[in-house]
Amino acid sequence: MTHKPRLRIGHGFDLHRLEPGRRLIIGGIELAHDRGCVAHSDGDVLFHAVVDSIFGALGLDDLGSVFPDSDPQWQGAGSGQFVKEAIRQAAQGGYAIGNLDATIVLQRPKVSPYKEQICRNLVSVLGCHRSQVNVKGKTHELVDAIGQGDAISCHVVVLLEEQTIV
Ligand code: CDP
Ligand code: ZN
Repeated sequence: MTHKPRLRIGHGFDLHRLEPGRRLIIGGIELAHDRGCVAHSDGDVLFHAVVDSIFGALGLDDLGSVFPDSDPQWQGAGSGQFVKEAIRQAAQGGYAIGNLDATIVLQRPKVSPYKEQICRNLVSVLGCHRSQVNVKGKTHELVDAIGQGDAISCHVVVLLEEQTIV
């Protein structure tokens, strides 16, 4: 007999280099900054870490394997579409978001003025309630590449709950 857990925890991590002349997009929201992410896609570290946390909870492969650059189906896709696909796969497996907690590690700019906007957009993409999502900003205390403003990273943990059919 197969065992289906009622709760599944997942962890996601992502990091991108920051370079001048690019847009800085976090959770689908553009932050005013003189640097942005170097990536094939929009380089949205929060959305990428969210996808990996959901896939991780489901025991699936990671973002890069599920959405390869080489697959025309996903070429030019915004990272929000990856999040929606991850949620679709979770629902297919009988799971929905319990809650999600994210930490964005970025020397500057401050995430706090954008926090509510980022949370609200994440909530709309995930299709969950505002109270199920939390986003925090953290500096890297000037240490290493992130501390020098040359990179941004993001950590996410998610709890998926078995959906009860009523
Ligand atoms: O004081 P502590 O070392 O815990 O945190 P910090 O990295 O110095 O950041 C201080 C506060 O600034 C955090 O608690 C966040 O609320 C905010 N912060 C932010 O909004 N955006 C960042 N990129 C970094 C920090
Ligand atoms: Zn990424």
